[in-house]
Amino acid sequence: MASAHKVGIIGGDGIGPSVIAEGLKVIKAAGVELETVDYDLGGARYLNDGVVLPDEVLDEWRGLDALYLGAVGTPEVPPGLIERGLLLKMRFALDLYINRRPFVYEGDDTRGPHEFIVIRENTEGTYAGEGGFLRKETPAEIATQGSVNTRHGVERCIRYAFELAQSRPRKHLTLVHKTNVLTFSGSLWERTFNEVAAEFSDVETNYNHVDAACIYFVQSPEQYDVIVTDNLFGDILTDLGGAVSGGIGFASSANLNPEGVSMFEPVHGSAPDIAGQNKANPTAAVLSGAMMLDHLGETDAADRIRAAAADTESLVGSTTEVGDLLASRVS
Ligand code: IPM
Ligand code: MN
Repeated sequence: MASAHKVGIIGGDGIGPSVIAEGLKVIKAAGVELETVDYDLGGARYLNDGVVLPDEVLDEWRGLDALYLGAVGTPEVPPGLIERGLLLKMRFALDLYINRRPFVYEGDDTRGPHEFIVIRENTEGTYAGEGGFLRKETPAEIATQGSVNTRHGVERCIRYAFELAQSRPRKHLTLVHKTNVLTFSGSLWERTFNEVAAEFSDVETNYNHVDAACIYFVQSPEQYDVIVTDNLFGDILTDLGGAVSGGIGFASSANLNPEGVSMFEPVHGSAPDIAGQNKANPTAAVLSGAMMLDHLGETDAADRIRAAAADTESLVGSTTEVGDLLASRVS
């Protein structure tokens, strides 16, 4: 038998641990053996002893096959502290430069279902933290928040998106940006996109401004196959993607370093208002688990999990009931 994959588990806060428990249940039912290592991190841990994400833990993670994360953040901790100190630190330190978020638009009688994938750059842009205050908390205060875009960072993301588009039947890639206003970063993205496109002559390309893309996400998502965009546009667009494809309870994601360890997490947050009530839909976590299995080479089990979750309307009930239903379908 193949040796078990070594996976770090960060259940986190709120509904995080319970949706990850269901994800692990379904993975096991699909016949994949994982050797899990639990990490107690998140808002609750921070409140307990002030620890957010020690460097030694990051070093340990570099030696694992994957990381599986529920959700982090709790109302008792100042907003942003855990998000920046844990989630963003993880993305930067492990160089998880691709944020891959697939959506299945259910469609109606005339169209759908239709899958499209957003590739969000995950380490640069406005998330890089460039900027600062001058004369803070005076009437003359100045705040700047820059957007960092490197040729290297933009190109590796665009290249990944082209390779993905080329591997899919439709071979179609849309760049989303705001080149009409963001003339510096937009220019770098556009020039890089066009240069890389020349190497992928079989991939059809398109460009949308991000505001227009918001309309198309709602009105005609079937026009998309693969989308590539910067960090902040990708953050916003993928919440909209969740909203137009069955809800955020079904939105899964992969934070990838194709050359290192990668992390898999549902797009939704820790939902402290329903924590501990066995109410949260675990499907997004289960589908993120399927993305992790793809990454680990367990594609057959991943396909069976996706097939089990395809009929989203049947996935109703408590957290554990939905997990049990999915587990029974894959075994
Ligand atoms: C996401 C989240 C994070 C982000 C937050 C929690 C920092 O919204 O993964 O989309 O903005 O990237
Ligand atoms: Mn987000």
